[in-house]
Amino acid sequence: MSIVAAGEAWRVRRASGLKGFWTPPGDKSVSHRALMFGALSNGTTKVDGFLPAGDCLSTANVLGRLGVTIRFLNEARTSLEIEGLGLRGLKAPAEPAPLDCGNSGTTMRLMAGILAAHPFRSALSGDASLTRRPMKRIVEPLRLMGASISARGEGDTPPIEIEGAELKGIAIELPVASAQVKSALLLAGLQAAGTTRVKEPSSSRDHTERQLRRLGAAYRVDEGGWHAVDGGVVLSAQPWQVPGDFSTASFFLAAAAICSRSDLTITGVGVNPGRIGLLEVLTKMGARIAVTNQREVSGEPVADLVIKGGAPLKGIRVAGDMIPRIHDEVPVLAVVACCADGVTIIRDAGELRVKETDRIAAVASELTKLGAKVGVLADGLAIEGSATLKGAEVTSHGDHRMAMALAVAGLVAAGETQVTDTACVATSYPGFATDLASLAGEG
Ligand code: S3P
Repeated sequence: MSIVAAGEAWRVRRASGLKGFWTPPGDKSVSHRALMFGALSNGTTKVDGFLPAGDCLSTANVLGRLGVTIRFLNEARTSLEIEGLGLRGLKAPAEPAPLDCGNSGTTMRLMAGILAAHPFRSALSGDASLTRRPMKRIVEPLRLMGASISARGEGDTPPIEIEGAELKGIAIELPVASAQVKSALLLAGLQAAGTTRVKEPSSSRDHTERQLRRLGAAYRVDEGGWHAVDGGVVLSAQPWQVPGDFSTASFFLAAAAICSRSDLTITGVGVNPGRIGLLEVLTKMGARIAVTNQREVSGEPVADLVIKGGAPLKGIRVAGDMIPRIHDEVPVLAVVACCADGVTIIRDAGELRVKETDRIAAVASELTKLGAKVGVLADGLAIEGSATLKGAEVTSHGDHRMAMALAVAGLVAAGETQVTDTACVATSYPGFATDLASLAGEG
């Protein structure tokens, strides 16, 4: 066993490689959207392959408090049905307590866009990490659309208080590329009078746009790259098959790339172009990855990935338009960079400072404890490759993606690596340690 769960900590030892076949759990971003679009559609939505992890269950609970009936159809809670209430059909929460979004930024930001169009009072809050995250980015544009909304915490952080209203379409250019902000505004626009137009400085994941099209909304991309949606067009319920989560798969891809005797096939993973930056970066670094069996499922591209370890890796520069397509994967990319020849530079990634934790600071402090040479830049990281990592005690900072990235580092470190504060993986992948242990052979 290369990884053993010991209470809230993992003890990780060196692994020779990851071998076998593995299907990732359902995509987190798509699972949130299946619930939200199901609630706003007319009719019953059947979902299969749902991710029953903390973040998506937060969305389910929030919608439940807003009068939406969600029925789980199996014990694993991967299949469910949602009774749609139609556009602007959510009910005011019976209790005044804020709607609890847990650790989930997607729940809070997308639900704020939905609730801004509902004519009742509501409040959204979350855990200690979520209540530190910036919300001005959604509050300001939703106000321009006519909502009465404010982020009550210091520096425009949660809780968010909303008095919904009849919204009107606006045109807005976002200062940063963010799928959560873009989606919040498109969901508000779907329920507003007139047309809402949103433009990003570079492209973020387009799960929302794909589903707007599939479910019958009047959505298009106008000249100049403006995402445009007309309000008031009814959505008709469609079945959803949720693809495997690429961001979760990225830990296994990275682990297989750096453990020399790997031969791993990842089946049924979503390969939305806005998500697979890491696949392209690993390939450029020299990793041997084949993309096979490409198909489309419920509007999303899906494929199988075959990765073989042992290829020499070289450092790389990652910046600009690539960043929104890889930002959830930067912690694990930093681990791969430690094993590559030469320096890896990551720039334009200031957004990483306002994720579940400050991922720039957290990556640098924890990988340094393992013996890596990591420099902190204002908007990124500089990592000297070919470091010999040595096991040590490291912490996730309460961030699920940090916990999983550090476990991957443990697979190539000498001796034992203890990853503490790992309960946070429940937000996206409760089965991570068990699955990694079953695929990773002892080094
Ligand atoms: C998400 C968008 C991303 C990502 C997050 C999920 C989504 O954030 O980091 O984990 O489901 O829309 P951005 O809003 O910064 O793109």
